[in-house]
Amino acid sequence: MKFAILGSGTGSNAKAILDAWKAGQLGKAEPVAIFSDKRDAPILRFGEVYGVPARYLDPGRFRTKLDPEAEQCYINAIRAAGADWVVLAGFMRVIKPAFLDAFPKRILNLHPSLLPSFKGLDGIGQAWDYGVKVTGCTVHYVTADLDGGPIIDQQAVRIEEGDTRETLEAKVHAAEHTLLPKVIARLSLS
Ligand code: GAR
Repeated sequence: MKFAILGSGTGSNAKAILDAWKAGQLGKAEPVAIFSDKRDAPILRFGEVYGVPARYLDPGRFRTKLDPEAEQCYINAIRAAGADWVVLAGFMRVIKPAFLDAFPKRILNLHPSLLPSFKGLDGIGQAWDYGVKVTGCTVHYVTADLDGGPIIDQQAVRIEEGDTRETLEAKVHAAEHTLLPKVIARLSLS
């Protein structure tokens, strides 16, 4: 299972995946490329550190999705890297049908809430503001239904007395760093 990682930001989940891979804990899965829609995204730095090709791919003129030419460029780059799976690790754009059809049932997304609660942006902040006592993170297949594809696995995080929004963020991120590599490893062995 060769996969590309797509991300827009810090890349802490990409790092968790790459650490698991280096530690021999990613099953038969192998990260073969990292792509970002942000030219200066920190996620791209992990390419050099871990020896995985990483580069910026122009997303085109829209803010929340890829324009059709950019979409084709992403598909071509992922295929050229030899990847047949795609892992969205903080990739903040909606994936449209042409992209989905290029990798059917082979695009995974990580979301920082227990779906179907708190879809969309800032899942952690939404859960905090709502006042739930348990939240967490979800890995699911990407479909045309935003954050609505079949759930593969979830990890719960309890909001305790004394937690702040910041401590909750740290707890959810720590849960993500465990869950995502575990799911990738499991899928690669199934
Ligand atoms: C993660 O918390 C991930 O769940 C979230 O972006 C963060 C990326 O962090 N994704 C979404 O909200 C997608 N809707 P990272 O760049 O440190 O991995």
